[in-house]
Amino acid sequence: EINFFFPKQQTLAVIKPDAMEEHRERILEEISGSGFSVTQLKEMVLSREMAEEFYKEHREKPFFSQLVEFMCRGPCMMLILTKENAVEEWRAMMGPTDPEQAKATCPNSLRARFASDILQNSVHGSSNEQHAEEKISFIFGDISSDCRDHRKRYQWY
Ligand code: TYD
Repeated sequence: EINFFFPKQQTLAVIKPDAMEEHRERILEEISGSGFSVTQLKEMVLSREMAEEFYKEHREKPFFSQLVEFMCRGPCMMLILTKENAVEEWRAMMGPTDPEQAKATCPNSLRARFASDILQNSVHGSSNEQHAEEKISFIFGDISSDCRDHRKRYQWY
């Protein structure tokens, strides 16, 4: 397992339903052009229950039901990105949640270029390592548990 030799971090990236038709290829190109390895990838349509669980941290927010509906609207692309500092680097590539703010502060970010509004904002990325681990196992099951065990054992991060 080649990953064994490199001190890398994993994050979960999602290409959301609004970006799947027109921007998916471009986003995937930019991901690999930025030095991320895509270690797992799948396209799926989230059920309502899965979308609710995925965004459970936002359960009490006024935008929760819209968010869940939007995420189930069509296929998403789920990716595990691997790179040193992957969590932070992917967040930086995405840009701020609100595309208006993204355009003003990070015009090259994915959201500045591809997002339509604060809800339909094209991409998701885990906000910290714990979320990354949790959401990766939620979406991909236990395939990455070996990596997590090694990571703990050798304190790579
Ligand atoms: P959040 O975790 O705050 O942002 P991010 O995706 O940048 O980590 O919010 C999760 C998603 O909820 C966000 O991507 C889009 C949606 N959302 C809204 O629809 N309205 C809002 O006001 C906010 C803050 C988020």
